Amino acid sequence: NLRSVVRGCGAYLPERVLSNDELSRMVDTSDDWIVKRTGIHQRHIAAEGETTSQLGTKAAQAALNAAGLTGSDIDLIICATSTPDYTFPATATQIQHALGIDHGVAFDLQAVCSGFVFAVATADKFLNSGSHKRALVIGAETFSRILDWEDRGTCVLFGDGAGAIVLEAQNGTQSIMDRGVLTSHLRSDGQHRSKLFVDGGPGSTRTVGHLRMEGREVFRFAVGMITDVIEDALNALGISASDIDWFVPHQANRRIIDASAQKLGIAPEKVVVTVDRHGNTSAASIPLALSVAVADGRIREGDLVLIESLGGGFTWGSAVIRW
Ligand code: ACO
Repeated sequence: NLRSVVRGCGAYLPERVLSNDELSRMVDTSDDWIVKRTGIHQRHIAAEGETTSQLGTKAAQAALNAAGLTGSDIDLIICATSTPDYTFPATATQIQHALGIDHGVAFDLQAVCSGFVFAVATADKFLNSGSHKRALVIGAETFSRILDWEDRGTCVLFGDGAGAIVLEAQNGTQSIMDRGVLTSHLRSDGQHRSKLFVDGGPGSTRTVGHLRMEGREVFRFAVGMITDVIEDALNALGISASDIDWFVPHQANRRIIDASAQKLGIAPEKVVVTVDRHGNTSAASIPLALSVAVADGRIREGDLVLIESLGGGFTWGSAVIRW
């Protein structure tokens, strides 16, 4: 009975911080509007030439250091990203090479903001099967490259960054007291494409394109979908929301996070929030938030951690990890 146990996590944020005040000199917005509607105060922006694979490599190296492991210990790398360095090869293979790894397998996973939850679920199934021993699960993004910097409705929301965890197959039982990924639940529904998409790509404009979003429509669906897929996870384990030690949601928007926690009955002090400092970093937001909460001593070995996300597609998912 194999379990995917977290050995370590790490993160990397580009040096450059873009404040709301700076943004309000670029588009018609204000710190007050952004903070009230989203809870975001600042975001990090990659430097010219600083790519998703570079951010992902630094986060992966930090996770390896935290785990006390090296690249040679890893045989599976999954990078969740919607902002790859190139259309192909996969960003994950560039990270693999940058880490000096030439064995095992590396591939990208594209589920937009849900990418990290999807990648954890995927790695867990590889490790459970016994086919692989240790996985680097990475969320890395440079959304600044796909933003329309003249659209105040979207450019204020996103930031760049990367986070990673190392999962290791270990023997365990079926008990929810055992460490590891306990359950994961993934969903998608392509009918919602027009609410959140990038208006470019090889099959359409042959350009990279820009992120387009009907913010109100996303908001309208988000809380219901998030809470549904969390209830699936809680029911699968036979636990209630009050059993969760830490709720680490995708960091899209403070109002969505607060409304989801409230609907589920999760106490505010158990909710990890980084959207104020990081903005929405898509697939990187959850491992970035996990790294913050591990570094400051909140998340400790043995804690029950609930992660959740909703992203373009729509895609949405949840996972519960005994840390
Ligand atoms: N600054 C000032 N005014 C703005 C800004 C801005 N940055 N952006 C929009 N406005 C204006 C609009 O033009 C509109 O003006 P009008 O009334 O004169 O037409 C007014 O503010 C209200 O606009 P709405 O879009 O209706 O504002 P809303 O209250 O819905 O807030 C927001 C917008 C913050 C985008 C909200 O809808 C939201 O958070 N939606 C969810 C979006 C999200 O989280 N997406 C990502 C999830 S999935 C993923 O992570 C990829």
